[in-house]
Amino acid sequence: MRDKIIPALDVQTIEELNFLIQELKGEASIVKIGMELYYSFDNDVIKRLKDNNFKIFLDLKLHDIPNTVHKAAKTLAKNGVDILNVHAAGGIEMMNAALAGFKTENEQGILIGVTQLTSTSTEMMNNELLIAGEVQDIVLKYAENVKTAGLAGIVCSAQEVSSVKEKLGADFQCITPGIRPKGISADDQKRIMTPLQAIRNGSDYLVIGRAITKAPSPRQAYLDILKEIENE
Ligand code: C5P
Repeated sequence: MRDKIIPALDVQTIEELNFLIQELKGEASIVKIGMELYYSFDNDVIKRLKDNNFKIFLDLKLHDIPNTVHKAAKTLAKNGVDILNVHAAGGIEMMNAALAGFKTENEQGILIGVTQLTSTSTEMMNNELLIAGEVQDIVLKYAENVKTAGLAGIVCSAQEVSSVKEKLGADFQCITPGIRPKGISADDQKRIMTPLQAIRNGSDYLVIGRAITKAPSPRQAYLDILKEIENE
């Protein structure tokens, strides 16, 4: 179960990072590095976390021409990234190229597709991006493309897991943010689920940021969540 909880280390200072490393060391197995942390410290942050025995989910949402993404994914795998994501909007050829690059350096690595961002509304998608239809349908179509390209799964809301798995199979991995234990503020997340609900819905990995990182004791918050899902 430890592999299923991925604390999102959304901090930008070395002091905050060191604090979270000390708190989560020996407990969490995988941690997520987002853009703000990665662009603050580059590969030093990967090395530092690897040295403390964490596996790395690097959330950079790559999107460029296939050749560029291929090389980027290869380089990141070489630098020790275990889970990486790319935008499905880049198309099947781009995702395929990313996968080939990533796997060259990390055979066990997991490449994930990002479908539509949760900040995208149907109105914005229809009127600005000129993509017709409902966001939900586009998410499923993009997820299908992700599978066709050979990637392991997608990032999605825990509420979408059952429809995604119904269409693409139980093995298709769903990494779900928007997780809040009972009694914890939703912050800016619109559709939240508790860790237990998300696991029961079939989530493969729970990405959990503030409920862990902003807790008085991140270690205790992590252990409480682990206890909640442990018997599932
Ligand atoms: O603090 P919180 O648990 O809301 O953090 C969720 C993490 O998941 C953040 O790092 C956020 O960037 C990420 N994420 C998200 N929604 C998505 C994709 C990623 O909240 N659709």
